[in-house]
Amino acid sequence: MNTTILAIESSCDDTSAAILRNDRILSNVIASQKVHEQYGGVVPELASRAHQQNIVPVVDAAIKNAGIQKNDINAIAFTRGPGLLGSLMVGVSFAKSFGQALNIPLIEVNHLQGHVLSHFIKENDDSPVPQFPFICLLVSGGHTQILLLKSHFEMEILGETIDDAAGEAIDKAAKIMDLGYPGGPIIDRLAQQGNPDAFQFATPNISGCNYSFSGIKTSFLYFLRDHLATDPDYIENNKADLCASIQKCIVGFLIKKLEKAVKEHGVKQIAIAGGVSANSLLRSELQRLGQKHHWQVFIPKFQFCTDNAAMVGIAGYFKYLNGEYADISLPPYAR
Ligand code: KG4
Ligand code: ZN
Repeated sequence: MNTTILAIESSCDDTSAAILRNDRILSNVIASQKVHEQYGGVVPELASRAHQQNIVPVVDAAIKNAGIQKNDINAIAFTRGPGLLGSLMVGVSFAKSFGQALNIPLIEVNHLQGHVLSHFIKENDDSPVPQFPFICLLVSGGHTQILLLKSHFEMEILGETIDDAAGEAIDKAAKIMDLGYPGGPIIDRLAQQGNPDAFQFATPNISGCNYSFSGIKTSFLYFLRDHLATDPDYIENNKADLCASIQKCIVGFLIKKLEKAVKEHGVKQIAIAGGVSANSLLRSELQRLGQKHHWQVFIPKFQFCTDNAAMVGIAGYFKYLNGEYADISLPPYAR
């Protein structure tokens, strides 16, 4: 029997809706919010207001693009958290009322689980999916974790950041250089023309497979401050090299701990997920390591790296198979 799921994601600044038939994606619509760019970061109040404006047209487009009718939907999956409370509230409330109107079950999804499970989304091809157990480096704007996946919903944290997330550090570096928001894609693009060895930024000595990014961010800030004191055009004149060097530092650190975790656990299936997995250096480094160590690597398609509802849909589908439905009264959670 086929299962059709409507999925909704509204945890941060992207309003997204997707339709999945079983594990296959029929549509995935994302409305990104431009309103935050002028502030250099997401403004929570403006985000929830934009979600309110976007949610109905986005869901409508997802249903139309999938070529289905409302009555074909068997369940509604939605991101319950973590994220911005006001933003989550819009998606959660919409899912509840739409679910009630159609008299179909609700499924709550953890945003991070969605990122990890994005590897199981099927498109028109039949590309391989990871086999359990596999290790996933989850790198987003809010999280940096090395996870050991034992099944779809059983994961052990092998390491994680003790302070900032990798995406947060990249966005901060971009903000210090006044490059715009979100900084990740901009740094990635500018770095292509720069020399990654132009500047050396140290990574902290941190135990086990854990990360720390706040020190890198601060030393980058002080490094620039020193140079700007004597040369106000320092950033402008060294932009590409600065981007390439800070990106190399952050990605190198991510890879180093991932390699350590993989060695310790002897797992050969390695995946990356989350917004920062769109980074071209991280992607190519993972490919390189895969060849070197004979790992089978899984790199998400770009549209499934950053926030999207298809990943919520696939997590929702696996929960649907288990009959894990959500109660209509449950509130969203921020952390
Ligand atoms: O997963 P995501 O869309 O949202 C969260 O759950 O946080 O991740 C957003 C993060 C931002 O920090 C953004 O700068 C980063 O992903 N990002 C990138 C790239 N594309 C997005 N970082 C580095 N290189 C990219 N190409
Ligand atoms: Zn995310």
